[in-house]
Amino acid sequence: MTEFTGNHILSVNQFDREAIGKIFETANTMQPYAQRKKQTRVLDGAILGNMFFEASTRTRVSFGSAFNLLGGSVRETTGMSSSALAKGESLFDTARVLSSYADVIAMRHPQSGSVAEFSQGSMVPVINGGDGSNEHPTQALLDLYTIEKELSSNLQTIDNMHIAMVGDLKYGRTVHSLSKLLAAYKNITFSLISPKELAMPDEVISIIENAGHKVIISQDLEGNADADILYLTRIQEERFENAQEANKYRGQFRLNQQIYTKHCKSNTVIMHPLPRDSRMEANELDTDLNLNPNLAIFRQVENGVLIRMALFALTLGVEDKVKQHECEVTWFSRK
Ligand code: CP
Repeated sequence: MTEFTGNHILSVNQFDREAIGKIFETANTMQPYAQRKKQTRVLDGAILGNMFFEASTRTRVSFGSAFNLLGGSVRETTGMSSSALAKGESLFDTARVLSSYADVIAMRHPQSGSVAEFSQGSMVPVINGGDGSNEHPTQALLDLYTIEKELSSNLQTIDNMHIAMVGDLKYGRTVHSLSKLLAAYKNITFSLISPKELAMPDEVISIIENAGHKVIISQDLEGNADADILYLTRIQEERFENAQEANKYRGQFRLNQQIYTKHCKSNTVIMHPLPRDSRMEANELDTDLNLNPNLAIFRQVENGVLIRMALFALTLGVEDKVKQHECEVTWFSRK
């Protein structure tokens, strides 16, 4: 059994199905607090170091909100230029220093492997919020949690499902982590739809195939949209040498209501890790899908808070004490 307390979360490779089950079970218990029906002060006095050296909206703010919802406080750094990394400080020294201010650290950085390197200098658990094009383990967990919930409402399971991953599968770290997590399940069909130059790395395909799953490689969204889950991704322009290079691929795969109606099953679940690129030249996930009940993108966002609350509770060893520190919500809440 995976030991969570006091340990880093760097890669989805750490988790087997039992560990995933434990995270999901803990996430389910966080619902009343995320929905403001109750509050808990279980992490009163604890500090999260939220260290984001690369742009983020969802991951950074939801890590902070998740920690606050458990009663803890948050200290943040945003951007490389406002940190001493810009003065040549090593990741090891930065980690040694920041970990003396915090009980747990969430970190994002543009280089693959950087969060693991940082963790070697840290005296407290480090959670990977995305390291370059390598991994985004908490996004993969919230995606998997969402897939399980969405499929179960269609009386389906992750075992035996068909997922189509679309877009920039080379640089998109969310699809790397999600594919590795899904490898732990049974008999999944993966349709991997991307421009040839932005194909899923061979290393990830090998993991899926060696686990006995079926892989279909394609450059055609419309011919492959008959999936249970359609997981779209953005062209990761920040990983390209220049914007012109990324422009070659922008807008190649677009989903809107008309394409969905023509090519998808009536209950195909539409997912995207966000941000979706809504600029006209990309418009990868049209806003005319916003009222489609199968569009799960904002449910993914909400599930992200539950998953991150669960990971903090498990990492700091308080998952069984959350209810004990419960109290009433005193303010007006629409949730
Ligand atoms: N999904 C995701 O990682 O979003 P942000 O870049 O806004 O954190």
